Amino acid sequence: MNVLVATEKPFSKEAVEAIRREVEQAGHTLTLLERYTDRQQLLDAAAKADAMIIRSDKVRADVFEAAPGLKIVVRAGAGYDNVDLEAATKAGVVVENTPGQNSNAVAELVFGMAVMALRNMYDASTGTELRGRRLGIHAFGQVGRCVARIAKGFGMEVSALDPFCPDSVIEEAGVKPVHSVEELYSSNDVVSLHIPATPETIRSVGYDLITAMPKGALLVNTARKEVIDEDGLAKALADRPDIKYVADVAPDRAAELKALYPARVFFTPKKMGAQTAEANAGAGIAAARQIVAFFADGTRQHQVNK
Ligand code: 3PG
Repeated sequence: MNVLVATEKPFSKEAVEAIRREVEQAGHTLTLLERYTDRQQLLDAAAKADAMIIRSDKVRADVFEAAPGLKIVVRAGAGYDNVDLEAATKAGVVVENTPGQNSNAVAELVFGMAVMALRNMYDASTGTELRGRRLGIHAFGQVGRCVARIAKGFGMEVSALDPFCPDSVIEEAGVKPVHSVEELYSSNDVVSLHIPATPETIRSVGYDLITAMPKGALLVNTARKEVIDEDGLAKALADRPDIKYVADVAPDRAAELKALYPARVFFTPKKMGAQTAEANAGAGIAAARQIVAFFADGTRQHQVNK
């Protein structure tokens, strides 16, 4: 089988070599398409693929149309909002993700950005500490749980909102469950976003929630830019000069917001949460193994388009 790794933002060299070993040891071949700049390159490469490993690469109906032999797409990572699941199912293609592999990397970046923001982007002025501050985790999935673990080391008071996670699981992690978004935002100095981008969550965090946050609050977004209502964010930043926003997923209005509030907003130039050697290897190898298992005996443990 031909396994295509199609990554506009490439994995580390070591991760690619590890993926190659997994694929070739199982008797398959590996094709690499990295840093492509033109969608046609993706479509041409997909045309010969039986399986694909992708990251945030957009896999829509055009890819399935161009790839008649395609049987499985594995998103090496957690969020699969970049894959059109309906089109995949229609084309008879299995879609999987690799949950948990990027979680620690993303969680560490939350704190990297939080410290930078609370130290005023290292502009030499007096900042504040994380110790003793209240952290609200918006969604207690794999990343949220890593964030809670690290927050304890910083001496933060941690609460979390997750309607899909039982209170007992949240409590077992030493975290206080909260039951409404209003409570989460109004009662925390720092809120860290970990909700996926779905029709229900897109633009769900806007003016009301952001301005409900206490004085000097910080909102950290390592989830998806789409979950933020950007007009609401812009208005909240204008009305509340004490609030800061840092994101691993630059908003569409990034340039404008950076120009207006250089000491209060920060955006990574490209999504960096999962861009560590460890996460690249973890997610890449998991994706390769899932494909090998799928072709060996039909295993599809992490299928997301059931
Ligand atoms: C994920 O959903 O796992 C992260 O957002 C990582 O995305 P990336 O593979 O594009 O870095």
